[in-house]
Amino acid sequence: MCGIIGYIGERKACNVLVDGLKRLEYRGYDSVGIVTEEDGKLYIRKGAGKIDELKEKLGLLEMPGKRGIGHTRWATHGIPNDINAHPHTDCTGKIAVVHNGIIENYIELKDELLRKGHKFKSDTDTEIIAHLIEDALKDFNNFEDALRYALLRLKGSFALGIIYTHDREHLYFVRNESPLVLGIGHGEMFAASDIPAFLPYTNKAVFLDDGEYAVVTKDSFVVKDLKTGQVKEKKVHEINWTLEMAEKQGYEHFMLKEIHEQPKAVKEAIYGNLGMIDKIAREIANYEKIYIVAMGTSYHAALVGKYIFQRLVKKVPVVEDASEFRYEFEDLIDRDTLVIAITQSGETADTLAAIKLAKKKGAKVLSIVNVVGSMATRLSDLVLYTHAGPEIGVAATKTYTTQLTVISMLAIALAKYLNTADREYLQKIEAELYDMPKYIEAALGYENKIKNLAERLKEKRDFFYIGRGISLATALEGALKLKEISYIHAEGLSAGELKHGPLALIEEDVPVVAIAPSGKTLEKMISNIQEAKARGALIISLGDSEELRKVSDILIKMPKVDEVLSPIVYIVPLQLLAYHLSVLRGNDPDKPRNLAKSVTVE
Ligand code: F6R
Repeated sequence: MCGIIGYIGERKACNVLVDGLKRLEYRGYDSVGIVTEEDGKLYIRKGAGKIDELKEKLGLLEMPGKRGIGHTRWATHGIPNDINAHPHTDCTGKIAVVHNGIIENYIELKDELLRKGHKFKSDTDTEIIAHLIEDALKDFNNFEDALRYALLRLKGSFALGIIYTHDREHLYFVRNESPLVLGIGHGEMFAASDIPAFLPYTNKAVFLDDGEYAVVTKDSFVVKDLKTGQVKEKKVHEINWTLEMAEKQGYEHFMLKEIHEQPKAVKEAIYGNLGMIDKIAREIANYEKIYIVAMGTSYHAALVGKYIFQRLVKKVPVVEDASEFRYEFEDLIDRDTLVIAITQSGETADTLAAIKLAKKKGAKVLSIVNVVGSMATRLSDLVLYTHAGPEIGVAATKTYTTQLTVISMLAIALAKYLNTADREYLQKIEAELYDMPKYIEAALGYENKIKNLAERLKEKRDFFYIGRGISLATALEGALKLKEISYIHAEGLSAGELKHGPLALIEEDVPVVAIAPSGKTLEKMISNIQEAKARGALIISLGDSEELRKVSDILIKMPKVDEVLSPIVYIVPLQLLAYHLSVLRGNDPDKPRNLAKSVTVE
């Protein structure tokens, strides 16, 4: 969960690297480092802290050279400090490496290198890579051969950028289970963990696959298989994201911009999938054994998926946290199983492991993914894209509502094909789904009210989010948003569970956020709200009915949409609430502590 960037061309490398690192900072922001090369000498500057703090302090923009690599770190091995910041070098200082991932056998390799007399400066697993290459160079004349030999000894996940003083024309990049993309320019080449890093310079991208490495000059690139050294044919993708899409456009934070982009993102998700959805529905229509796997916010989208499938398709998918699926479900998956994986990044280690297991057991895998060309898309049989555009804020917002949109479209398409729900009803909710951008726009209109509410709630210590049926997912997601960016303790739970224990925690003025759209369970919800109110809770309700007003201290009156689609619009005020509480409490909502955008380690 770090960010890597590389540049070789005619520009001052440090400018491109700093600019790229800034765009990659969401991947990790506890340390930063850059290495450039000029006249056969490496220049390295690195330290703990964020790029804006370190830019001046370390003089990152005053480094010589037209080729270099950079790194923004999210610590896995070794605390975030200046020494552990990347790049790391070998004993001679001629080889420098930046790394995203974890080397699982690094202790064993480090012991071996120590016995051979290598001296280490940091506590990181990364440093051993530079030393391993140095060691291999004793047996190989050619740097590339030494590199391959050394890297084949690594176990674990790694995306690497490597620079060697004596090999002035080249940069090397390697991918194994951590993302890496080449950016193809004219007379210049880029590499990065994610496309926005080089988007100001080129929109042509080549995605490396696991076990591949790239040898890059300013005018060319060649991708090879790490094991065999054979050249691989690679497709150059044209990326249609604009730079504007990857920047803040006047919003104070990416998260706020991304919340406001939801009407457009949902529209893109709908229109981007219209041509695909019926075809994919037909391909999966006969599966009875269905698992939906995901993590975090995507897991909440999976929960919504389960309810929609139950209601419309009359099938009951098992929803499982991907980190559990791999261990608990192995014996249950077979050729008759459909696994639907939901992942914004397409690079979440747990979700990828679940997909790999499903494939190994012969299951059909359909992924719902945002990042084009990401690993999940390449491992899966079928892919539906969410078309949300780049999401930079660590907390998922527009990728969640677009995931919900796509899973709803899929359920509607299946229900039509299998004839499992009333035609007229399906037509009605389909029309509502097309109108969803309008409903989200209406929910965004409450921002001022929510900002004022946040002001009133900013000192609270605990929040409870309650919902029933499909709204349970919204309660869980609302609570997750609050926890991760405002650092306030929050619990999402089924409203029916309240009196089976959690009610003991409700006392005077504790906020209880009730997700209560009209539908099957509204009456029961109102009873649950009253139970909490009777214990002094401050009731904040989200709903479309007047009955709610009587039992609520604050009512956020939502647009009327069918209950099965309500999660797409009901989450919006909760995202705004979490965002404004985060800002009022002095946090940076784009970069919550201890978290990173794509969790590429298990
Ligand atoms: C929370 C959040 C995370 C991700 C989770 C899975 O706001 O963003 O919980 O949802 O790490 O990530 P993806 O969807 O990339 O697999």
